Amino acid sequence: MNTEPLRALRLRTPRLELRLASGDELEELFRVAEAGIHPPEEMPFAIAWTDDLQRDAFIEFHRAKLETWSPEDWHLQLIVFLDGRPIGDQGMRAERFGERRHVVTGSWLGRRFQGQGLGTEMRTAALELAFRGLGALTAESGALEGNVASARVSEKLGYRQTGTSHVSPRGVPVPHSDLLLERERWDPPHPVEIEHLEPALPLFGVS
Ligand SMILES: CC(C)(COP(=O)(O)OP(=O)(O)OC[C@H]1O[C@@H](n2cnc3c(N)ncnc32)[C@H](O)[C@@H]1OP(=O)(O)O)[C@@H](O)C(=O)NCCC(=O)NCCS
Repeated sequence: MNTEPLRALRLRTPRLELRLASGDELEELFRVAEAGIHPPEEMPFAIAWTDDLQRDAFIEFHRAKLETWSPEDWHLQLIVFLDGRPIGDQGMRAERFGERRHVVTGSWLGRRFQGQGLGTEMRTAALELAFRGLGALTAESGALEGNVASARVSEKLGYRQTGTSHVSPRGVPVPHSDLLLERERWDPPHPVEIEHLEPALPLFGVS
């Protein structure tokens, strides 16, 4: 599948730019991840990928998302740039988006960039792409028990809890809040510019 149109896509918030990254930028992002995303005794992710950080696997993860892209099943892994440098990752995925109009998001920031409102800004960018750019009806997120920052970002942006599930990133079940944001409740806290989306729309299953 020709995913080249995705390379031009840009989301801009007051402080951030979100877009796909070059190979060198992914290397730099890997070093941000290596420097730490969370305290080692905590695990905010459903899959404990930060317990075994490998450069090649990290780069391959991003490459494979484009390689296996399909309008029926896509996974957009936007890299978050602050002052031109990569600081984190804002992912968004969907299956049969054209019919379901439903997206699932996930994200992380290097530790030194957390707690300054940037997580809220990047999620807002993803939600603007979903609701305004692509015509989504619902957006899903979640937070493992104890992940106050992630849960707070969702709360601020209007998500409601629809249930509790369990995940076992380190072999022990941990409660996970299932969160949903409906289009009618979406009220972006700041403007987001979306550039060069039009040529990429068919890749998302949107005609
Ligand atoms: C989740 C994450 C992306 C959020 O980004 P961020 O830039 O830290 O978030 P923000 O600064 O925009 O907002 C965090 C909110 O949580 C609050 N918060 C954070 N830690 C808190 C704590 N221990 N107690 C109470 N509130 C807390 C902040 O005060 C802020 O709320 P406010 O704006 O009402 O004050 C980031 O923290 C991160 O990468 N964490 C590690 C990876 C992760 O958890 N990813 C998500 C997996 S689902």
